[in-house]
Amino acid sequence: MSLQDEIAQVRTEALAAFQSAGDANALEAARIKYIGSNGAVKAFMKRLGEVPKDQKPAAGQALNALKDELTNAHEAAKGAKASAAPKSAVAFDYSEPLAPERVHAAGKLHPLTRTVNELRDLLRALGFEVVEGPEVEDERHNFDDLNIPADHPARDSFDTFFLNKDALLRSQTSTVQVRVMESRRPPVRVIAPGRVYRPDIIDATHHSTFHQIEGLYVDKGVTMADLKGTLQLFVNGLFGEGTRIRFRPSFFPFTEPSAELDCSCPACGGDGCNVCKDSGWVELGGCGMVDPAVFEAINKARGDHAYDPDVWSGFAFGFGIERLAMRRHGITDIRRFLENDLRFLRQI
Ligand code: DAH
Repeated sequence: MSLQDEIAQVRTEALAAFQSAGDANALEAARIKYIGSNGAVKAFMKRLGEVPKDQKPAAGQALNALKDELTNAHEAAKGAKASAAPKSAVAFDYSEPLAPERVHAAGKLHPLTRTVNELRDLLRALGFEVVEGPEVEDERHNFDDLNIPADHPARDSFDTFFLNKDALLRSQTSTVQVRVMESRRPPVRVIAPGRVYRPDIIDATHHSTFHQIEGLYVDKGVTMADLKGTLQLFVNGLFGEGTRIRFRPSFFPFTEPSAELDCSCPACGGDGCNVCKDSGWVELGGCGMVDPAVFEAINKARGDHAYDPDVWSGFAFGFGIERLAMRRHGITDIRRFLENDLRFLRQI
C-alpha cells in the first residue's frame, strides 16, 4: 500500500472514530490515537523521509491538511457532545452561596400563635385542658354571672364594644369560665386562650384587640397555695427556673381574695432595669380564688346546685398574651403584633 493510500485509510478511520465516539473518554482516546503527539498523523510525518524528494512538498502539505481536518473534526465532535449532555450531568456546587433571588423564605407561625402554643403546652403538662368560647358574647357571660351587676362600678374598668343591646365583643376571656361551669359538673381544670376587645386608646402598651389566656381550676379543697404553686411552675416554664413570683393584693369582682401576679424581671433578673422601671418586678396578670357569688350565679343558670360553694372551691387566673410575649422577646410596642410587618415578624 502506498503512503498515500495509508493516509487516506487513516483519514477515513479517524473521521469515523470522532463521529461515533460514545462519550468524552472515547473521543479523547480517538484524539490521542490519531492526532496526539504519538498518534498516527505524527507517525506519517516521521515517515516523510521515505518519500522521493520531488514528492516531499506535496506529501508534507497533504499531511498538514490532514492534521487540520482531523483537529477540526475532533473539535466539532467535542462541541456536539458538550451541548448534547443532559443538564443534570453538570455537577452542582452545594457550597456555592445562593443568589438572593433564589433564597426562598420559609413561612413560620406568628409570634402570638407561638406564644399561645407554648402557654398551652406548659399548662397542659399541669393537667389543664384547652377550651374555647365565642368572641361575640352577651352581658350575662361577660358581666352578670362574673359578679359584675349592671350598676357595678367595676364595669367601668371593662369598657366594652356593644354590637347591639344584646350582643357585645367579649372584653375578657373570663366569659369562658362561665360557659365551662354552665355546661360541666365539677371538678374542672381548663385554660381558655382567645381574643378580646376593648375600646382602649391605642398606644405602645394598649390595643383594642388583644389576647388573654384564662385558667380555671375547681375541685374539693383547692387553696391559694395550689394557685401559687401552679403559677410558679408556669412562670418557670415561661421564663426559666429561678424566676421568682409574688402576689400583690388586688380586686376583681369574680375572685376573692384577688391578686396581681408579678415575677422577677426576665430582662434583668430582678436587679432593676428600664423594662421593670428599676423595681426588679414585672406584672403578668390577675388571679384569685373563685368568688362564691360566681358559683351561685352558675347554679342559678344551671338550675341545680352542682357548684356548692361549701363543697367546691377554685382558683382562676387571666393573663394578657401580648404582654407575656413582649416580656419574653423584649418587644416594646404591642401594635407590632397586628401590623403584619415582615421586618418585625422575621426577627422574632
Ligand atoms: N379578666 C381579668 C381582666 O381582663 C383578668 C383576671 C383577673 C382573670 C383575675 C381572672 C382572675 O380569672 O381570677 O383584667
